[in-house]
Amino acid sequence: MSERPRLLPLLGGTRHGSRDAMTCLYRCGNACDHPVPNSSDNPYFGDLVDAEVSRRGVVRAGAVGALVLGFGGAAAGALAGAAPAAAAPATPTAPGTDEALAASARPGSGALSFKPIPPNKLDTLVVPNGYDHAVVIKWGDEVVPGAPAFDVRQQSAAAQAKQFGYNNDFVGVLPIDRRRALLVVNHEYTNEDLMFPGFTSQDALTVEQVRVAMAAHGMSVVELERVTDTGQWRPVRRGRREYNRRVTALATTFELTGPAAGSAWLRTAADPKGRTVVGTLNNCAGGVTPWGTVLSGEENFNQYFVGGDGAPEELKPKLARYGIPTDVRYPSGSRKWDRADERFDLAKHPNEAHRFGWVVEIDPFDPQARPRKHTALGRVKHEGANVIVARSGHVVAYMGDDERFDYLYKFVSDKKFLPGNSWVARKHNLTLLESGTLYVAALTGDSPAGEIDGSGTLPADGGFGGQGRWIKLVSGNRSYVDGMTAADVLTFTRLAGDKVGATKMDRPEDVEPSLLTGKVYVALTNNSDRGKTGKAPADEANPRNANKHGQILELVEERGDNTAETFTWSLPIVCGDPADASTYFAGYDKTKVSPISCPDNVAFDATGNLWISTDGNALGSNDGLFATAVEGPERGHLKQFLTVPLGAETCGPFITRDNRSVFVAVQHPGEISGASVENPASTWPDGDFAKPGVVVTWRLDGGPVGS
Ligand code: FEO
Ligand code: CA
Ligand code: CA
Repeated sequence: MSERPRLLPLLGGTRHGSRDAMTCLYRCGNACDHPVPNSSDNPYFGDLVDAEVSRRGVVRAGAVGALVLGFGGAAAGALAGAAPAAAAPATPTAPGTDEALAASARPGSGALSFKPIPPNKLDTLVVPNGYDHAVVIKWGDEVVPGAPAFDVRQQSAAAQAKQFGYNNDFVGVLPIDRRRALLVVNHEYTNEDLMFPGFTSQDALTVEQVRVAMAAHGMSVVELERVTDTGQWRPVRRGRREYNRRVTALATTFELTGPAAGSAWLRTAADPKGRTVVGTLNNCAGGVTPWGTVLSGEENFNQYFVGGDGAPEELKPKLARYGIPTDVRYPSGSRKWDRADERFDLAKHPNEAHRFGWVVEIDPFDPQARPRKHTALGRVKHEGANVIVARSGHVVAYMGDDERFDYLYKFVSDKKFLPGNSWVARKHNLTLLESGTLYVAALTGDSPAGEIDGSGTLPADGGFGGQGRWIKLVSGNRSYVDGMTAADVLTFTRLAGDKVGATKMDRPEDVEPSLLTGKVYVALTNNSDRGKTGKAPADEANPRNANKHGQILELVEERGDNTAETFTWSLPIVCGDPADASTYFAGYDKTKVSPISCPDNVAFDATGNLWISTDGNALGSNDGLFATAVEGPERGHLKQFLTVPLGAETCGPFITRDNRSVFVAVQHPGEISGASVENPASTWPDGDFAKPGVVVTWRLDGGPVGS
């Protein structure tokens, strides 16, 4: 378009809190309008806490021990993290380089030197002075060599299946060598109103447009090259680009693995053996594994299904627990994909919904390999999964189920990680997530329940913290949940968590272990319903009622062993405006920290600092990316590193292992009610209409980012 369109006024204050109504409609199918799916009566840990008071001193000592002991395992994990795929040798850390110097410091204790940027509502990407940024790739760009040039007025499913998809979320950058890398990105969902000129309603879309949307979901693998010797990266535009690949909801075949594969719950008319699934849905966050593959979480898959009212009666409670309404044919926010493919109609194919909600593994270095859905990791609204190699060599995946009052999980593999790049090691490691033990978390506080009043006021011992245990749900084919088989537990994992009394959390999103310390960090985004009548009240891990801004939870496994069945935890950051008495930044001087709201994704830089991106900032600023040390005197000194354009969410954050590049995904720019292609609320990044895209940020002087 030749004219720069005017910006729409911001329509804040919708019924969905800080989120724009469009975000609610397109991203989660108006989840806030539907009842909270967890109606179980699990105890909240105020009931349990009195027996646990005054153990903080013990806990503290234990935590210090864990740090020291955990370091061996952490180092093993860090090495494992560098262990590349056979096709992807890692860049060695040369003595005397910035990376080597940074790695010699105490992990996670860095004084971040960048000058924080202020909150803002600019329709651009803002980074600190001394940094630059560039769009790496955006919606419609070529992924598969030979993809048609993008034309917003001439879209087709066939073209989109070769082009970069919509609403990039997870970002992983896997090195091939010092100059080349593979970018792996999730495409979580679509905004049809911002994609198709002349959009009026979902019903008015052509079937081909629905198929374009299906092709715009999924994942992309794109070969990148470094720009000269900077921290900037760009897609390779010539040559074979043999790794470049699109995975879509439309046409990619997945293999189901693990104990529930082949079970009756997963069989359909099109797949009577219950072993293969076409497509992946709502891929949100994820993680890079120590063996060089990528995990991707299937999150709000419920919104793609219709006909829940016509599903078999005995299935209805199970569908409802996953947020699929069973009293109407078309729930509010429905995508109505049954118009393009009848398998999305549960009245006809009631088991199809069970084939989504898994953790997906893709091997970006083997373009011919079928991606897999691992049933051993359970079925929830998976935000993502992040793996660490425990001291014993078993691999441990940490996972969150992003829904108000849902749970925190971990998986411990049966088999041990084989280090190295040999064909044998690689083949073995690709099976690690196919068998193991799945746990759900129960947390208790260490302060008297009366000191947790829902206001966020710190208890007398000076911090929110306590103990926790991992409750075994299933191990291999053996269920530990009464009345449920292993296949039942893995397919209806939320119901298993309800039965064993898991702790209801404030939307557990990204859960990621630091490979340098073995400690685990959980982004708890918010929970508007905490403390409402009939809902779980505040507890020590979720200490604020009507929680608008969320918190970060730090989990330290017993003896620093990531396979342990008990842990301690604390809340280093309780988010919001630092001037708000209910916020907490690990005791750091609150006049020196950046305001933060709705933490969503977390990542670590090469020195172990924690980076946090936000989704739905309820303080009025655009969403952004923040960083803080997690150890030492700088712990809690949170600084804002960037903001994304109007209407967008900051996703993906990924810091390269050489600490020279920070990648973020700019998801749903311009997602503001009333916006369209013709009348966009954001014109990022090209000045015409909004397009989601991946951005790289680097330091102009070539130094390490953050410090
Ligand atoms: Fe897709 Fe939980 O964010
Ligand atoms: Ca997310
Ligand atoms: Ca992450």
